[in-house]
Amino acid sequence: MNSFANNSKCSNGEICKDIKKNNNDINDLKNGKKINSNFEKKDTDKDNNIFNDLQTLNGFLKEYCKDFDEKFELLEKINSGSAGAVYRGQLRKNKNSKQIAFKFLFNNNKKEKNSKKSKDNNNKRENNNHAEISFHGILKNKHIPFVYAYYKIQDHSCIAMEYTQYGDLESLKRKILKRSSLSETLVLYIAGGILEALYYIHVKNKIIHMDIKQQNVLIDDYLNIKLTDFSVSINYRNKALKETIRLPMVGTCYYMSPEVLDQKTILVSEASKIDIYSLGVLLYLLAFYDYPYKLNDVNSKNYTQIAKNIKEQKLEFPADTGHSKLFINFLKNCLNKDIKQRYDIYQAMNDVWFKGYQIILDEKEKIYNASKFLIDLMVDNLINFNEYLKTQEKLLS
Ligand SMILES: Nc1ncnc2c1ncn2[C@@H]1O[C@H](COP(=O)(O)OP(=O)(O)OP(=O)(O)O)[C@@H](O)[C@H]1O
Ligand SMILES: [Mg+2]
Repeated sequence: MNSFANNSKCSNGEICKDIKKNNNDINDLKNGKKINSNFEKKDTDKDNNIFNDLQTLNGFLKEYCKDFDEKFELLEKINSGSAGAVYRGQLRKNKNSKQIAFKFLFNNNKKEKNSKKSKDNNNKRENNNHAEISFHGILKNKHIPFVYAYYKIQDHSCIAMEYTQYGDLESLKRKILKRSSLSETLVLYIAGGILEALYYIHVKNKIIHMDIKQQNVLIDDYLNIKLTDFSVSINYRNKALKETIRLPMVGTCYYMSPEVLDQKTILVSEASKIDIYSLGVLLYLLAFYDYPYKLNDVNSKNYTQIAKNIKEQKLEFPADTGHSKLFINFLKNCLNKDIKQRYDIYQAMNDVWFKGYQIILDEKEKIYNASKFLIDLMVDNLINFNEYLKTQEKLLS
């Protein structure tokens, strides 16, 4: 285990707070992947080896974080991303207790620590990881996975958090529902969970998530919706409503609003609209299995062209989808390219279509059984909600 030789110790259960995030401008657009730094992928792949394989990671933990190793057993890798990997695990002493998700974040490239580029990359990576730990660690809301502890292991970090059985929205669609698009009722139920999380982070914590997308929305076995991955989030706690924020180009290209793509300066009072736009893209994708702009003939790596389409194409909806006018109206307001005209968090939560969310929650209370509730959502079978939609549509026409 010499390859891990280092004297750094493992610090247990510590939640870092108030780590100031450095929002550097980033010019590199990566395909459907989070853009959070310009470090080269090949460096990351090489360095992330300790996280990529269960056996190697176990060896690393045994050697450098005995406390962790004695307490937890890692069971399988769930996913690996640009800055680390997520594992499912459990307590060694109580295997019947709830399972835990461990997000390992890679921090430092020791081998190339002297090169300037490598230093810059490491600084950015560290900033992102610190942002994730400092933000996620303090957020306590039923729509955000609960963080049990944070571990620093050598130069790397690990967040131990609540595990969600159904994984993210993409895996729910692929593995459980085996459908590419979802019913309007299910889309509203998901929108409700995300908007509750956004209300909490925007209004109560002055944080913009900056990376709302299918892969960052999780579902637990009670079908609770949880927003995760705060690695590129930004905060504006020290700013007054009339002040401005210069937007960094972070997030995932397909979900970015025009002002993020242009790294514009916006008013603090408009901050929530960044995430509302990405939410609009996500809901459009869930309902119509497509993005709200066309990508035909566009090379998936041609980010300039994708950004141009996002900024210039007229918003259109597939014909005869059977979706309510209220839903389409909600999407139009979230996806308005003009930030001034777009819904903010309050307007989104007061929208007529969105008000139906409470009816769905009331139905959920009555049904108890999560699988039955999921089926009812999938086949638009919630009578009270359907009646609400009909009545509201009549009022509109
Ligand atoms: N608490 C959790 N429970 C179950 N699955 C999870 C949990 N956290 C993450 N996952 C799975 O791991 C995936 C990646 O997690 P996350 O989005 O936090 O990291 P990431 O996208 O790899 O990070 P980054 O984008 O910073 O590289 C998620 O899309 C989801 O499938
Ligand atoms: Mg993610």
